[in-house]
Formats: sequence, C-alpha cells, structure tokens
Amino acid sequence: MSEDYAIPSVPGLIGVGNALQLDPTAIHVKLSDWERKFGPLFYFRALNHRYLVVSDIDIVSNVMRDRPGGFRRHPNLQSVMKEVGVDGLLAAEGSDWVKQRHAMDDGFRGFELDRYQAMFGTIETRCRQRFRTLARVGSGVDVFSEFQKLLIDAMAIASMELDPRVSLGDPMNFEPLLNGIFPTIGSRITSPVRYWKWLPLPQNRKIQRNLLRLTELIESRIEIFRAGRPTSEEAEFRSILRLLVMAQGAQRLDDEALVGNVITILLGGLDPTAAVLAWSLFFLAQNGKVIEGLRCDVERNGLESRYLGAVIDETMRLKPPLPLLFMQSIADAEFKGCRVVAGTNIVLSLYNVNRDPSHFRDPLDFRPERWLGEKTDRTSVALPFGRGPRYCIGRQLALFQVRSLLAGLALHFDFHLQGAMPRELLEFTMRPGRSFMKISERACGGSEGNL
Ligand code: HEM
Repeated sequence: MSEDYAIPSVPGLIGVGNALQLDPTAIHVKLSDWERKFGPLFYFRALNHRYLVVSDIDIVSNVMRDRPGGFRRHPNLQSVMKEVGVDGLLAAEGSDWVKQRHAMDDGFRGFELDRYQAMFGTIETRCRQRFRTLARVGSGVDVFSEFQKLLIDAMAIASMELDPRVSLGDPMNFEPLLNGIFPTIGSRITSPVRYWKWLPLPQNRKIQRNLLRLTELIESRIEIFRAGRPTSEEAEFRSILRLLVMAQGAQRLDDEALVGNVITILLGGLDPTAAVLAWSLFFLAQNGKVIEGLRCDVERNGLESRYLGAVIDETMRLKPPLPLLFMQSIADAEFKGCRVVAGTNIVLSLYNVNRDPSHFRDPLDFRPERWLGEKTDRTSVALPFGRGPRYCIGRQLALFQVRSLLAGLALHFDFHLQGAMPRELLEFTMRPGRSFMKISERACGGSEGNL
C-alpha cells in the first residue's frame, strides 16, 4: 500500500493553505475545478485542517456503507448542530445513532403515506392557489422561498399533526421559527474560524430564541400524544412524532431526542425538497420539449408517470441538494491502494460524481431520457439520498411531495426564466441563488380534477 503522499495536494499558501481560494457558498464548484486538475482523490488545506476530496463512486459508496464503524459524519457537523440545539439522527454517532436510527426507522415504517396523502391535498391546493395569485400579480417569483413556505406546513403536518395555518391561526408565527437555521449550520460547518463563540451576532441570538419557542411547541405536542389525545388536524392520520411517542421498549426515545428529531425532520424536509422543486421549475422553464413530454405523460399516467420520475432524477443529478458530504475516518483505511489514516477529514463530492463524463454522456446537459433505459449512462452512481445504513430516512416522503407538487404545477402553469439560470448557492443545501422567474397560468391547463 502506498503512503498517502501518493495522493496529490492542491498547492496553497503557508499558514492559510487554500482557505483564501474557497468561497463557502461555492465550495462544490472549486472542488469540481480541482478535481479536473488533480483527479478523483486529492487533498486541500484550510488553515490547519486538511481534507481529502473523493469523487470516485466506488470509494464514495464504500465510505457510505462502512458506517458507523469505519467512518462518521465530520465532528464539526455534530458539534455545530448540538450547539444550535438540533440534536437528532443527522448529528448522532456510534451507539447513540444506532439506537436513534432503529427508533426512527420504526417511526417512518409506521407512517402511512397513503393516509398522509389525503392530508397533503390541502398543501397541493394551497400551492395551486398561491401560484395562481403569483401568476396574476405577474412580477418575478422567488420559487425556492415559495416552496419553503409550503413545505413548512407539509412537514409540520407530517412530523406532528400540526397545520400551522389551522392550529396557530397565523402561519407567520411558525415560519420564522425554522428560517435561517440550516444556512446558519451550513456556514458554521464550513467556517475555518469559530467566530460565533466570541461574536454573538443578533441573527444568532434570534435563532436561539426561535429554537426555544419551537422546542416548547414540540413538547406540548409530545404531551398530547402521550395522553393519546386527538389533535384538531387528526383525520385517521398518525404523525411521525405520535408514532415515536407510542413506541415501546428499546425503541423509546427520551423527550430530548424526540424534540431533536422533530426539528431534524422539519429542517431535513424543508430546504432539500424545496431546492429540488425550485431547480426542476428552472429546468422546465429552459426546456420546452421536456415540459411538454412531462405534461403528456402525467395526463396519461398521473403520479405513476415514469417521465416525472426521470425529470426529478435528472434534476437531482445536476443539482444534488446535498452536493458535499463531510466525513471523517474512524479507522485506518485504503483508497485505491493509498493509505488513509484514522482521523482524516473526507469530503464526498456527489456533485463531481454526478458530472463525471465516464458515467454520463454530455454530463452537463439536462436530459431526463437518460433515466429511461438508455444504456449510455450509469445512472446508478447518482446518489442524491446517500447510500448504506445512513441513507436519507425521508427519501420516500420527499419523493412523494416532489412528485405531487411538480406534476400539478406542470399541468397548470408555464414557467419563464428571467435571464440566465440562477447560480448554485451552497447553504448546507445547494439552492438556486436569489433569482426570480415568471409564472403564467396555462390557458388550456389540465382540468381541475386532473391532479
Ligand atoms: C429531496 C429531498 C432530500 C434529499 C435530496 C435528501 C438527501 C439526504 C442525504 C444525501 C443524506 C445523507 C445520507 C448519507 O449520509 O448517506 C440525508 C440524510 C438524512 N435525511 Fe434527507 N434528504 C431529503 C429529504 C429529507 C426529508 C423529507 C427528511 C425528513 C422527513 C430527511 C431527513 C433526513 C435525516 C434525518 C437524515 C440523517 C439520516 C442518518 O444519519 O441516519 N431528508 N438526506
């Protein structure tokens, strides 16, 4: 086995390394430039931290599978999430993660998607009404924030049977509780300096206050579920929190873990799903033939449409909501014959894997057809939800929400780019940078009964 000096390093400055070359909101792009120059395995340095960037699908898959024993999420993620107060499955490690994952797997298994589907109709109606209003107003629309707002309602319903617009009257009371938490976590994870420790910015104090209020709200739901009481939204529907509270024996989580996991689900379900929906609309606005094909197939096959699945898969290939996964090796490992010592910081770049021309022909083209059986592409290497024991627990729920909302919107609206495609803004999630699109209602849009 060669020593790890067989792996190339990006040349940097003494002391700071490559820190000055890295824009925290576009790290994935810089790592993609470096991958073209240094290959699928290389090191870079930010101040006194060295990172090994991996863009080779076999190594990426092996790292993902070898958890929790061989690799862990980067300790920064755990400490930042705990500091902010979001202490659930995403941040857990070792035996704590094993316990939480068993309990959460049970909760998600008990969650009946078809019953939730009936409630989700409310969100689809809200979505349609909101887009109709936006189309009538006629000005540019920030679709990512529109989806965030809708999904806050959807995730509050799924996680704790709470429809903010029904239970709290004014949804404005609920939305701010979640806004800003993910971007804060993202910027802290990638920051080489822990500035927030000695610089308590007003924005951070606001987030702490909001988290406290959110915690109180979740605790009040735990009380309701523990007493077996119904909620005003209950319609033959059991939320993930109710299922977790009802769990017995080893699957029982304490209140702190219940709160941490509801916040994790609320956050995990928000920005990545909103990003997929927003990027899909940008691609549809750019590709007239694709939206036509999508409408035809959805008219014919409803939510079973294969082309709908292909549009979503292709969107996530080019715009993976979590393009970089920050990890650390727990034991010594070997990557393609090179030794990687325990404690090495590792960045798995799904972004690079998904744009690798040896897996995808014309990798930068948006072509949903590559998911419909073309033999030229190795689509199995795109892993938007991760792989192995820590793959995304909300995958099914996320795909259901994206399919439902996207199909309805494509049938009823047209989308128009205002200028170029938006830039990719990495804020933990890779979302479209602030940019706007125009929406118009289709004159001959699908009939009302049609999705
Ligand atoms: C399109 C939307 C989504 C995408 C692309 C996405 C992607 C991911 C990825 C890449 C991971 C890391 C997987 C790994 O380390 O192997 C992950 C983990 C996770 N996701 Fe998602 N996610 C989405 C939606 C959701 C939703 C809706 C929820 C909650 C209902 C959720 C909850 C979680 C949780 C709790 C974890 C941590 C799992 C663990 O560490 O055991 N995600 N997600």
